[in-house]
Formats: sequence, structure tokens, C-alpha cells
Amino acid sequence: MSSQLITNIAQLVAVPPGPVSGDTFSHPPIIESAALLIENGTIAWLGKQQDAPTLTDAAETIDAKGGTVVPGLIDCHTHVVHAGSRENEFVQRIQGASYIEILEAGGGIKNSVRMLREATEDDLVAQARPRIERMMQWGVTTLEAKSGYGLSHEDELKTLRAIKRLNDDLSIEIVGTYLGAHTIPPEFDGKPDAYLDRMLDRDFLQTIVDEGLAEFADVFCERGAFNLDQARRFLETCKDAGLTPKIHSEQITRTGATKMAAQLGAISADHLEFVNDEDIAALQQSGTIPVVLPGCSFFLGSPPAPARRLIDAGLPVALATDLNPGSCTVEPLPLIMSMACTMLKMTPLEALVACTANAAAALGRADKIGAIAVGHRADVLILDMPNVNQWAYRVGVNGVARTIKN
Ligand code: NIG
Ligand code: FE
Repeated sequence: MSSQLITNIAQLVAVPPGPVSGDTFSHPPIIESAALLIENGTIAWLGKQQDAPTLTDAAETIDAKGGTVVPGLIDCHTHVVHAGSRENEFVQRIQGASYIEILEAGGGIKNSVRMLREATEDDLVAQARPRIERMMQWGVTTLEAKSGYGLSHEDELKTLRAIKRLNDDLSIEIVGTYLGAHTIPPEFDGKPDAYLDRMLDRDFLQTIVDEGLAEFADVFCERGAFNLDQARRFLETCKDAGLTPKIHSEQITRTGATKMAAQLGAISADHLEFVNDEDIAALQQSGTIPVVLPGCSFFLGSPPAPARRLIDAGLPVALATDLNPGSCTVEPLPLIMSMACTMLKMTPLEALVACTANAAAALGRADKIGAIAVGHRADVLILDMPNVNQWAYRVGVNGVARTIKN
């Protein structure tokens, strides 16, 4: 048996298993002068250091040096596997063009599709690997990665296989999502339903499931992408094939997609900048996790989602980077936590819960990761800062002194 005892912890944030809402969301249990015991990669005990179990000879002691211990971060919404970059659009937007105007003129996501189709699976792995390694240095121990820049059978499979290889190669768990309905590729211009028929082909979806390439399916419901009926059809068919629905909803306009996805049993509804009371009520009646992405609002200069309203409605809000080449290039999840504090008026502790327990729930893994709880996987960060408030407050300073994965 292998065991490690982390001692000398100034603040242990014992985030409970997700989904976490209400008072616990704002005030997760904190143990001061704490210790944490890991056995065989699992959390075995936590409490006051003075009560720590006596160790066998085999145990290793890890000195947290008066730092903070929190669960490993979970980035539950990324497009980290993509080809090339789009800094020219960044400049166009500074000069007044909007995100949707660029997409509707054949740029945006469609530029990334052109670049990804020219890349090989090896190219995709080589480009994504350093991004993921940097994200890991900032404390991410699990991340979700979407396809959605291939938009053909061959190019979507190429992307999903690159995601699987990265999962196998790196010491981080990477969960794949089939985003076959990101936008309409040029060869199906004006024929969104014919495109969906193609991407919902039974054998093709079966290949994704059989090869274990994705657990989730996702659709961008928006002007320039798919309407409500098309989004519903895509998610229903994928769900029948064994892929759990997720959605990009109410990002730029209010479409009603959040309500549709919640009623369909989506595991998460992401973006939510333009949600209304009806959408919030639909989320309350479902188990759908609202995922808020303030990095997009920062990067696009657009209004952020009403996170405070969602939290005050008793919803287990999660946060993620949405790392992608068009609407947010922010890699560090702790920087998103700082944005959640300044832009969304979430407290640092709420931001932590949103990036751990609730992000785990958005990936269907809340019983295994995202918490400091006995029996949970030992994905743990030691911060060289005395509390979580300081972590979010020191914007852009990497507080991660040590990451323990499994
Ligand atoms: O989550 N909105 C749709 N998809 C991504 C952006 C994709 C891109 O611009 O490359 C998002 O914002
Ligand atoms: Fe996204």
C-alpha cells in the first residue's frame, strides 16, 4: 500500500462532492491547521493535524509549508484541440467587427475548420500538448475537450482520436465531446439539415461510441450555427446513440436552447450570457449544470452571464475557460476564477467550488473527483498561498506549488 500524509496545511478547503448549491456553495467547510491522508491514490482521511493518524513506515510525509490545499481543478469546457490561430480576427473585432459578423462572412469557426482539415492527427497532438501542459501547471487535473473544427466524418474522428491520444499520453484525464454541430461547413452551405443527416449517421456515431472517443455530444445553437429544432434533433439522436447532451446556449442571442436542453436531460448548458427567468426556472427543474464562461466575455468584450442570479436561484454553477482560438484564448483556470470574482461577483470560494465539485458534475464525475472527501480520487493541489481568497486576488500569479494527481 502506498500512503502520503500532507501536513502543515494552513487552510484545507474540504469542498464536498458536487453538485454543490446554496449555503455550502458560498461557504464550503474549511479546516485550519489541517492534514490530509492519501492511500492508494484515494483520500483516506482529513482533519485537524493534531488528530492525524499515526503513520506506518511506508508513508511519505508531504509538507504543505503553511499553504492551502484544494481539489485539483477541472476545466469542464474547452476546445483545446484545434489548429493554428486567429489573431487577425482579434484585431478585426478591436476595430469594430462582431464575432457573429465574422462567422457569417465565412471566417471565425470556419477559419479554424480550414486549418484543422489541413492538419494531421499528429499535428493536432503536437499543437495541443504544450497548451495542456501549461494548463496543468496552473492546477488543472481533469479537462474536457471538444471536437467541432472538423465537421466531416474524417476530420471529426481525427480530432477525437487526437484527444484520446493526449489523454493516454499525459498525466491528466481528458474527456472527449463530439461537437459535430458547431457550425455548417462550406460544402453544406445553406443546407444545415442535410449536414446534420450526415453527422448523425448511425454507423458514424457508433464508431465514436465503440472507440470510446467521446462521452458527450454538443451543439452551438445560435445565428450562424443551428436553430432550436436542429439543435434538438442533433442532441436527441446523439443521446439515443449513447452520447450525453451538452449545449452552447444563449451566448449571443436568447434562443431558448437552455430550456430545450434542460428538458432533454442535458448534463450541462454552457455560456448563458442571455438567459432569462424562464430559462433559470427550467434549469431549477432539471439536473442540468449551468456552466459560465467569463473568459469569453473578457475576450469578446461582451456582457457576462448573470452568475449571481443563477447562484442565488440555488443552481450549482460551474466555471470553465472555454479555451478556443476565436472567443477565448485564456488557458489558466485560476485566471478565470479571478474574472469570476471581478466580473461576475462570485467570491473566491464560490469560484473554487465552481471549478471543482460543480465542474465534476458537469462531466458526470462528481462521485469521483472535484472534492476533498474520503473515497474521492486524490487529485489535490498544494498552493503556496495561505488561503483561497489570496489565490484569486493575486491575478495571474501561479499559486500552485505542487499537484498530486491520483
Ligand atoms: O464556445 N460559440 C461557439 N464555440 C466557441 C467558439 C469557437 C470559436 O470561435 O472557435 C465558444 O465560444
Ligand atoms: Fe465553447
